Amino acid sequence: MTDATTPRHVAIIMDGNGRWAKKRHLPRAMGHREGGEAVRRTVRACEKLGVECLTLYAFSSENWKRDEEEISDLMNLMRRFIEANLDDMVEQQVKLRIIGDYKAFQPDIVERLEHALDKTSGGQRTLAVALNYGSQQEIARAAAKAAAAGEVSVESIAANLDTADLPPLDLLIRTSGEVRLSNFLLWQSAYAEMIFTDVLWPDFDEGHLRAALEEFARRERRYGGR
Ligand code: FPP
Repeated sequence: MTDATTPRHVAIIMDGNGRWAKKRHLPRAMGHREGGEAVRRTVRACEKLGVECLTLYAFSSENWKRDEEEISDLMNLMRRFIEANLDDMVEQQVKLRIIGDYKAFQPDIVERLEHALDKTSGGQRTLAVALNYGSQQEIARAAAKAAAAGEVSVESIAANLDTADLPPLDLLIRTSGEVRLSNFLLWQSAYAEMIFTDVLWPDFDEGHLRAALEEFARRERRYGGR
């Protein structure tokens, strides 16, 4: 269904894993595991629906405040996710990108991520994963680099953001009913359409993505003009 009304770049704040698990009297880790399944489904759905770039908020720079057990569950999920999905990503021509300071993760995770970056580097479409990511920190880093190079402007800051080589963000979706950006892609959202849905992330599927793309297609984007 790719046409002029299909967003090139969709970003998702994947929220609600904990509530999904709680509703079922399951441990939070099960919610994250099902969240990983929703990631798989959504990557496939993007391919089917013609979205060129998908950016997912997987671990924020504030997530280190969660308890140790949950952080360790999320790290294990990351290890398993790469192991279970790398071949599929290569086959589906999905190039992995990471935004955020992933080098703060444990060395084996950094190594697995870098291996995955390398193996998928020939892909046509992009899955950008935000890891240890905070948008204010990203903007501050980009502004400092721009200043060091002698020119602080909208263009020079944008050129130094982690997302510099990704298409402009068209659509930002947040699941689970919360209506805030939580330090995610603040700069990049300047002209993005936003959709907030009550669906909990582990329940998110192709139908929900399709509905969001239909809603996007109905909106008129004016970029400040009339
Ligand atoms: C928010 O749910 C979700 C997260 C903090 C983690 C998102 C991570 C995944 C979906 C794991 C898989 C991703 C990849 C790319 C391997 P929450 O725990 O804040 O939910 P709650 O608000 O209901 O408690």
